[in-house]
Amino acid sequence: MGHHCNSVVSFCFFIISFLITVIHTEADKTVPALFIFGDSLVDVGNNNYILSVLKANFPHNGIDFTDHKATGRYTNGKNAADFIAEKLDLLTLPPYLSLVKASNKSTSFLGGVNFASGGAGILDHTKQLFASISLDEQIDYYSTVYGELVNQLGADATQKLLSKSIFGIVIGSNDMLGYIRSSSTLPRNTTLPQLIDLMISILPGQLKRIYNLGARKFAFIGMGPIGCTPSQRSLNKTGECNEEINYWSHTFNERVKALLEGMKSENNDMNYSFFDAYSQLLDFSQNPDAYGFSEVKEACCGLGNLRGKTPCLPISLYCSNRSDHVFWDFYHPTEAAYRIIVDNVFEGSQPYAYPINVKQLAAL
Ligand SMILES: *[C@@H]1O[C@H](CO)[C@@H](O)[C@H](O)[C@H]1NC(C)=O
Ligand SMILES: *[C@@H]1O[C@H](CO)[C@@H](O)[C@H](O)[C@H]1NC(C)=O
Ligand SMILES: *[C@@H]1O[C@H](CO)[C@@H](O)[C@H](O)[C@H]1NC(C)=O
Ligand SMILES: *[C@@H]1O[C@H](CO)[C@@H](O)[C@H](O)[C@H]1NC(C)=O
Ligand SMILES: *[C@@H]1O[C@H](CO)[C@@H](O)[C@H](O)[C@H]1NC(C)=O
Repeated sequence: MGHHCNSVVSFCFFIISFLITVIHTEADKTVPALFIFGDSLVDVGNNNYILSVLKANFPHNGIDFTDHKATGRYTNGKNAADFIAEKLDLLTLPPYLSLVKASNKSTSFLGGVNFASGGAGILDHTKQLFASISLDEQIDYYSTVYGELVNQLGADATQKLLSKSIFGIVIGSNDMLGYIRSSSTLPRNTTLPQLIDLMISILPGQLKRIYNLGARKFAFIGMGPIGCTPSQRSLNKTGECNEEINYWSHTFNERVKALLEGMKSENNDMNYSFFDAYSQLLDFSQNPDAYGFSEVKEACCGLGNLRGKTPCLPISLYCSNRSDHVFWDFYHPTEAAYRIIVDNVFEGSQPYAYPINVKQLAAL
């Protein structure tokens, strides 16, 4: 048919095939959307919209972010959620509440959205302590988003979109921290093993709800060694880690791995990648040179012993070089540490990334 076309028609044909290629590429993008659930390790600003005491939208947070802006991220620059989106070639995900609170509701969730909230946990006790958006409430929000996608695309196209999407989950640390605080509403005689049992009894129902709302690819980032955060180290005279808390952080991770494996054996259309943040962070402390770190104990920003006694506040001291510190504040890694963590979430091999990494998960 080509020989019937004059040059104008050929040109139009070229433009149209170009457009079809572009649209096709978009539609076939390996991972069309990313949905993030979790706590302050991945909150990109949801807590700016709620009445929580746990906020990060003030200096020195964000000191290395675009325009040195404090956005609600609990770190000096980008956090894990930003790097995960970058790795997937997706635009940075907006915080869910920034969209629903916007005056114009022309919101699209086609590329995903971030539900994470600083202080969030698995347990209701944690919610009562930190007044954050609990994992249960985040899933409620996701359920609303799911409904909007079905309205917009229809049920089949929504399922197709969601089954290729990544569902990132980072949760559990605040349940542990809540337990450590004496103000928790947990019964006073609760032991750490009972706490872990409780968390592991609630989490499967939460993951199942996400699965029932279309999720098929889960990327779970496990708990770090909570006993080695500057906050916990600052309680020890010689700045050592709290080994008991570390033991139970590690145990939580092992139980989550088993839980995901069990979930996959019951639902063979689901796949997952679990990242062992525990081992990764311990490796930072044990081999700092290998990662370019020179300070693994002290927080960059904060006050008191190891700058681990307060959050990063406008009146806090802060370090001049954020790239050589593992910790930004008393609990949270620096951008430099998040970057390495997410590199290994995507490219790492066992035992860090189990049974596959997120790059492999995305390609399924
Ligand atoms: C809605 O808000 C977004 C972001 O604030 C803006 O970019 C967009 O132009 C607005 N749309 C309408 C229809 O006003
Ligand atoms: C904690 O103590 C209460 C009574 O004060 C008791 O009823 C409960 O069984 C105890 N819980 C555990 C886990 O031991
Ligand atoms: C400090 O930590 C070390 C290692 O975990 C532990 O053996 C020691 O008892 C701790 N000291 C104090 C005062 O907590
Ligand atoms: C997950 O892996 C299984 C094989 O174990 C495969 O049959 C299934 O299609 C995969 N699911 C997705 C969403 O890729
Ligand atoms: C900051 O730390 C990084 C990583 O250790 C190092 O490469 C860099 O040279 C340091 N910058 C300054 C100004 O000291």
